[in-house]
Amino acid sequence: MSTFALSRNAVRIDILTALPDLLQSWFGESILQRARTKGLVEVHVHDLRQWSTDKHRRVDDYPFGGGAGMVMTVEPIHRAIEQLTSERSYDEVIYMSPDGELLDQPLANRLSINKNIILLCGHYKGVDERVREHLITREVSIGDYVLTGGELAAAVLSDTIIRLVPGVLGDETSALSDSFQDGLVAPPDYTRPADYKGWKVPDILLSGHQANIDAWRHQQAAERTKERRPDLHRSAEGNDPDTGS
Ligand code: 6GU
Repeated sequence: MSTFALSRNAVRIDILTALPDLLQSWFGESILQRARTKGLVEVHVHDLRQWSTDKHRRVDDYPFGGGAGMVMTVEPIHRAIEQLTSERSYDEVIYMSPDGELLDQPLANRLSINKNIILLCGHYKGVDERVREHLITREVSIGDYVLTGGELAAAVLSDTIIRLVPGVLGDETSALSDSFQDGLVAPPDYTRPADYKGWKVPDILLSGHQANIDAWRHQQAAERTKERRPDLHRSAEGNDPDTGS
């Protein structure tokens, strides 16, 4: 375990939000908590209000030009990012936004090799455009639908990154055999009993011939991808499954 920890520095994720309580409990649970106690990842959830200079600790205001909803102000966000970046350097400052780049497995893979990342959660209507112009390096969306705020999206993005950090998952190979990791959805899995009231496990999985089992799994994954995710199947075509190119 320590070899993994020694082979790289821990991933550090700083999340800036006006609703820190939403995220604290999420990162206190299960695999994510184990990753933290193993020293593989650090997640720090910060209340943006601590950087507000407003006497009511406000972090939002009415939009210039009128219109519905409130806009998060630039100052507390600027002060927060200035403080964090004065303490250490960050590889990315990501604004969670429904009009950002769509999160997919290749993007999660790329982000997981970073050391320090800031995730900014917009709430209410969004953030002052100057935040997006001057303070962030990237915008990420988790899908084509709208959430009330960026907190759930930040939790999703953090989860995809954290589980890829070596040592976080028990079985080192399991993240690489995920659905999507090779552009294919996962093949079916079975466990005991081999025959449940006449519902049988495919014979090949009980055969003990590992090469045949691997070939069967790959063929199942390819078939399922074609059937369920023709979009993935098309973009995986032309990829050589043996070289991963
Ligand atoms: Cl990152 N934020 C919000 N508010 N809605 C979303 C999203 C993000 N990604 C998809 N929908």
